[in-house]
Amino acid sequence: MMNRKHLLMAALFIICLLALPTSGSAGQLKGLLVYDSIYSSTVEVAYWIKAIIGYDQHLDVKKIDQVITVKPYDYVIIGSYSKWEKPSPRIYKFVEVFQDDLATKKVAYFLTCGDFDETMILKTPGGTPHLIAGRNYLWEIQEKYPNIKPVVIAGFGGRQVLPALQGTDSFMTWLLEKLAKEGAAWKGLDIWESLVPERVECFGNEVRVKILGLEPLSAAEIKKYRGFWNSLQPASLADPGKVKYTPKPYNVSVNTDRVYYSRSHMKSTLDATIQMIQNWAQQNNLTLKEQRKTFFNIYYHAIKSYNGKELTLHVVAATFPETPGSVHVSFRSFDKPAIRSGAEEDIRKAEELLWAQGRKIEDRLETAQSGSE
Ligand SMILES: Cc1cc2nc3c(=O)[nH]c(=O)nc-3n(C[C@H](O)[C@H](O)[C@H](O)COP(=O)(O)O)c2cc1C
Repeated sequence: MMNRKHLLMAALFIICLLALPTSGSAGQLKGLLVYDSIYSSTVEVAYWIKAIIGYDQHLDVKKIDQVITVKPYDYVIIGSYSKWEKPSPRIYKFVEVFQDDLATKKVAYFLTCGDFDETMILKTPGGTPHLIAGRNYLWEIQEKYPNIKPVVIAGFGGRQVLPALQGTDSFMTWLLEKLAKEGAAWKGLDIWESLVPERVECFGNEVRVKILGLEPLSAAEIKKYRGFWNSLQPASLADPGKVKYTPKPYNVSVNTDRVYYSRSHMKSTLDATIQMIQNWAQQNNLTLKEQRKTFFNIYYHAIKSYNGKELTLHVVAATFPETPGSVHVSFRSFDKPAIRSGAEEDIRKAEELLWAQGRKIEDRLETAQSGSE
């Protein structure tokens, strides 16, 4: 027989049990990761990010067509593949429809994309040279919906399985391969991969810290989740020598009929690099016209007359999340070799200035003097 004391203790025990927190309990932030994907690489990245954020956190991962409201959530991560230099049309629509709600919440944007080099300028025949790749593709959506101020943005690189491309996707990819002035990285591959795993990890950790107020995962801990992306699929069925993921070299010099292009990596900050570019322009009579400035990069037209002909050099400096404490700089001239030799000389002078005092970081070195990149 239970006496009153035992009854009281049992009641207290039940009350304590009821008060214990359950997963997704009150007080914990509720998150939505909404993604759009055609060929499924963005899906893999979405679940990878969920793992980094932690299964103890409430984060719903949903394909875009499963979302009818964002109201129940405290924060929203919006992820998309890139197509023709933008997030998907459905992502634009989603942001437009829910913009008022999103403006009151913490938001993060991420993209999978083909090219991760945020110092890259694309020139196609008849087109205007312009900044592409990674976070550059998130410029327009942020301009269009300025009330939504993302806490974190990222462009990871991605994956393209060439035999899987459908209809116009396949045709347009083939056409771009033929037209791109600097060649196409996927040429001769069945699977092209460009994703920089450290970028996904930086992004996941930034969400943990800036949105959830959690500690970042350590480098060793976070690497455990790379299995969400890695696979044994080869880059080419016909040529086993082709490796699937070859990090693009940070230091490159390309001199072809179509382009003079150099890219390098140095110990510096973005501000100090901007100052050096401005000094170089002043010392060598180039007029700098700023085309775009963001927290992670700057794009200039550097204009000068060489032998009576005015030429435009394209100069971009950018910081990358995976190489903190350093800056990547690219210079490009799309003019013909016969008229650009003065510009090439000025680019060499700029590099001398930028690389002085041991600033140049000599990893992943590659020099291509002819042929496409
Ligand atoms: C038709 C087509 C157009 C693309 N356009 C771009 C582009 O403009 N810029 C870029 O960096 N990547 C581009 N990509 C690459 C994709 O964004 C990348 O492969 C991404 O990982 C695909 O995501 P998904 O597998 O989730 O669909 C394009 C891919 C296709 C098939």
